[in-house]
Amino acid sequence: MSSIKYPESSHRARSPVVIRPPTPADREAFLAMTRASRKLHRPWVQPPTDADQYAKYLKRIDGERFVAFLVCLRDGGQIVGSINVSEIIRGRLQSAFLGYSESVVHKGRGLLTEGLRLVVRYVFTKLKLHRIEANIQPGNHASIALAKRCGFRKEGFSPRYLKIADRWRDHERWVLTVEDWRGRAARSGPPVRPAASQKLRKSLD
Ligand SMILES: CC(C)(COP(=O)(O)OP(=O)(O)OC[C@H]1O[C@@H](n2cnc3c(N)ncnc32)[C@H](O)[C@@H]1OP(=O)(O)O)[C@@H](O)C(=O)NCCC(=O)NCCS
Repeated sequence: MSSIKYPESSHRARSPVVIRPPTPADREAFLAMTRASRKLHRPWVQPPTDADQYAKYLKRIDGERFVAFLVCLRDGGQIVGSINVSEIIRGRLQSAFLGYSESVVHKGRGLLTEGLRLVVRYVFTKLKLHRIEANIQPGNHASIALAKRCGFRKEGFSPRYLKIADRWRDHERWVLTVEDWRGRAARSGPPVRPAASQKLRKSLD
């Protein structure tokens, strides 16, 4: 049983999106979203596009090493995209990797930026990680812009780092530490408090 808890909703009352864990009930909507967005996702990411892959994705969520979120519209609940926190390492590292993709329908409206800000807050305040890293291909300008908007800084370049769509692809390492995140939050004013009514529940209830 996992000790990690998920939020049921977002931590920022003003946000147009909420974050929550994916469930079996989301399967059809999730697959419709990833299938419709294939062109946008390829060759950057390979989210589940069939029922088998979706089942494996859910199974991978153990709340310890892998945590996943759906970013959904606050009004209506439509899925905007997904964000994964993977390979969570504890001990003296307290770090993890970040992956994300968005529905083509919602692209270019700042919604994934909002979702990522909520996930980043969760990662540092609830998971208590120290560092998160997004590996991004140099040509993926939208993803680099998103990482920059959320305060990540470029730490380095890794040739032939990740195999995506059957090819080893170069990646840039974009990193955010809790200190950088707190510094940004301090510069941009007081943090927005979580809604008092929001409950937390166990990830694998
Ligand atoms: C990477 C990806 C998630 C970024 O999507 P996105 O639509 O650019 O991100 P957002 O939803 O946050 O929207 C940001 C855009 O909305 C605009 N925007 C409008 N209102 C905004 C607001 N209030 N706040 C922030 N941005 C806003 C931004 O200017 C930006 O547009 P621009 O890039 O033309 O300047 C998307 O391109 C994607 O799914 N790509 C394929 C998967 C992928 O590459 N994943 C990452 C692998 S490393």
